[in-house]
Amino acid sequence: MRRTVGPPEENLKIFTGSAHPALAAAIAAHIGIPLGRSRTHRFSNENLKVKIEENVREQDVFVVQPSCPPVSEGILELLIMIDALKSASARRITAVMPYFPYARSDKKDEPRISITARLMADLIETAGADRALTMDLHSPQVQGFFRIPADQLSAIPLLVEHLGKSDLGNAVVVAPDAGEAKDAARFAKRLHIPLAIIDKRRFGDDEKPRAIHLVGDVRGKRAIIIDDEIATGGTIAEAVAFVRSEGATHVTVAAVHPVLSGNAPARLAAAAVDDYVFTDSIPIPPERRDPRTTVLSVASLLAEAIMRIHDGRSVSELFA
Ligand code: R5P
Repeated sequence: MRRTVGPPEENLKIFTGSAHPALAAAIAAHIGIPLGRSRTHRFSNENLKVKIEENVREQDVFVVQPSCPPVSEGILELLIMIDALKSASARRITAVMPYFPYARSDKKDEPRISITARLMADLIETAGADRALTMDLHSPQVQGFFRIPADQLSAIPLLVEHLGKSDLGNAVVVAPDAGEAKDAARFAKRLHIPLAIIDKRRFGDDEKPRAIHLVGDVRGKRAIIIDDEIATGGTIAEAVAFVRSEGATHVTVAAVHPVLSGNAPARLAAAAVDDYVFTDSIPIPPERRDPRTTVLSVASLLAEAIMRIHDGRSVSELFA
């Protein structure tokens, strides 16, 4: 990946919501500009007020706000910030959401439910965003939910670069289920190592799918299990136990988005894993972080994409 972040830009501003100020600050530092000043106030009735504390007239503004707890408040804060920036005459506003809210509600797979990821895209546009910048969406169709231009970045090259520095002599990439097989195959190709896929089946209507078969071989090998996100940790815990039972001698788990909801930290702590590799697309509170974890920063990737959007240069070239 080529990184060509240039000199500090005029007319470019980076603001942050409350979700991940450290990531926003790191992006601004990469670009070489100070973080824009804003303040969010929560009233006793739980209403939010956002005040933009500097002039943004005719500015190209990027608001960094990945989806993380408290999720609903984070979404509302982002919408209110966009609205405030619009009323303050920002020239263009880009919502930067490395982890997209409601990314998994992306289809109508039951009657009478909402495709909430599409609703999120509608709300962001209605609030006044001109563009969106996302990363490793749970499913590609989410990008199409936007009618404004939406770029999708990928942190996979970062994970590949990191793992490429480790011993891959006896390694195999493992997809934890068929849904992840395509991405895992690309990952394995980039690392020049074989692929194995865990085959899961559902045995009763109310039963969760269970790992029953492995397509490929992990016996005596290092299994690198890759997933786009880890939410409850259920998928990964099961995959780890399965590859161990199939004879893997070393297990690495790599994922882009460490959502780590609910019981996930306990599940990750109990799993027979040698090392975890995540990105900082979402902050991991220290008490929820396993000591075997390496966190790779996506700040320089986001900074580069922001500079390219600002200058009107290609973003897809970043992945060429
Ligand atoms: C599934 O489609 C995804 O790729 C992840 O495997 C899933 O989102 C992980 O969820 P959990 O950690 O709750 O099993």
